[in-house]
Amino acid sequence: MKRDKINRVLGRIPTHFIVIFTILIWVVPTFGLLITSIRPVQDVNTTGWWTVFSSQEANAPYIQSCAACHGADGKTIPQADLSNPELTAKYPRSLQLLALLRKDIDGKPHMGDIPLPTSQEAADIASYLRGASSGEVSSRFTTSNYVDALVGYRGRNSYLQDCSENAQSLDLKCDASDLLNPRGMGRAFLNSLFITIPATILPILFAAFAGYAFAWMHFKGRFILFAILVGLQVVPLQMTLVPISRLYAQMGLNGTFLGVWLFHTGFGMPYAIYLMRNFLGSLPSDLFEAAYLDGASHWTAFTKLVIPLAMPAIASLGIFQFLWVWNDLLVALVFLGGTTPVMTYQISNMVTSLGAGWHLLTASAFLSMLLPMIVFFAFQRYFVRGMMAGAVKG
Ligand code: HEC
Repeated sequence: MKRDKINRVLGRIPTHFIVIFTILIWVVPTFGLLITSIRPVQDVNTTGWWTVFSSQEANAPYIQSCAACHGADGKTIPQADLSNPELTAKYPRSLQLLALLRKDIDGKPHMGDIPLPTSQEAADIASYLRGASSGEVSSRFTTSNYVDALVGYRGRNSYLQDCSENAQSLDLKCDASDLLNPRGMGRAFLNSLFITIPATILPILFAAFAGYAFAWMHFKGRFILFAILVGLQVVPLQMTLVPISRLYAQMGLNGTFLGVWLFHTGFGMPYAIYLMRNFLGSLPSDLFEAAYLDGASHWTAFTKLVIPLAMPAIASLGIFQFLWVWNDLLVALVFLGGTTPVMTYQISNMVTSLGAGWHLLTASAFLSMLLPMIVFFAFQRYFVRGMMAGAVKG
């Protein structure tokens, strides 16, 4: 008996291990992205996100490396006053600082026998000098990436900083209208929402009608029709892009929201109909017979019986379709292009070909996750129930 118990515990270890491993490989990078999205640009560009956990005083590396000559307040060498913002502005990042320190002064190394700071230390020194000269304590975290992503600002400094300091010279408007500018995530969020809501409601509505008809209305050829519909699911979306965009060109639907709604509706329907038919078909037939005997029309049966009973299926379909349309890049790219950017399109543009823009990319990614998360947690109950709907039939 004792051995049984041991065996059982041992037998479970691999499963636990796999579960924990799977959770880790998802959670750790996501967590890293989250941290990156709230770090200042300069830090993102110089050091990894894990360095935020090394708890160092902001000025500790400075005291170790520079204070010996420049003094703790940076004022000891008059011609190189490190508390002077005009001087330190020439070395905004660790790279410039390190380049300066590698240059000799009068033929001798800048730092004498003191070892050069590592790139992490140099980044800390740079941000310490920035903070000391601007009179504010530079912090490890910031929300400015989110603001930059929302307005689509790709300047050297953050949008808010440039707005307060150089609005004139950079020709910035700095009012609420910037939130809707086509380069930013704010506008893209509205576009995505405007596409997703009809593209989620329409296919489910049609699928509920069709599912009811396939399950409870007797007409000729319904099995063949249903089989064709189910078979249609094998048609890959990519195959239809060219014919449909030619059709749209003739109908003037290219670049319109209507075109995207119709496309998503068409491609969402086969699966939705299949699921609705199976769900509605599994409802007890007595229910419908009783309703018909009482003189209920199909319409009454549909609105009074089917809709309330099918709520779990509708909700889970809704979540799936919503996520699918929200995360879609291909269809939006082909039919809307860059003129009406959606969130996925905007995210794909955040990183330049040189790899800069990580702070914007990560912030944008989290902005685009926000709504799906809310939807998921709001309907989570239905989600599990809906997945079970196909599995357990009574
Ligand atoms: C061994 C002494 C010594 C150490 C250590 C030292 N410096 Fe200096 N630094 C100098 C001297 C001397 C000058 C003035 C050079 C000149 O007048 O051209 C200077 C000049 C500078 C300047 C001004 C450059 C310019 O554009 O005029 C900066 C910025 C600077 N140091 C930063 C640092 C930082 C940051 C550290 C720590 C990582 C550091 N120094 C460590 C001696 C030192």
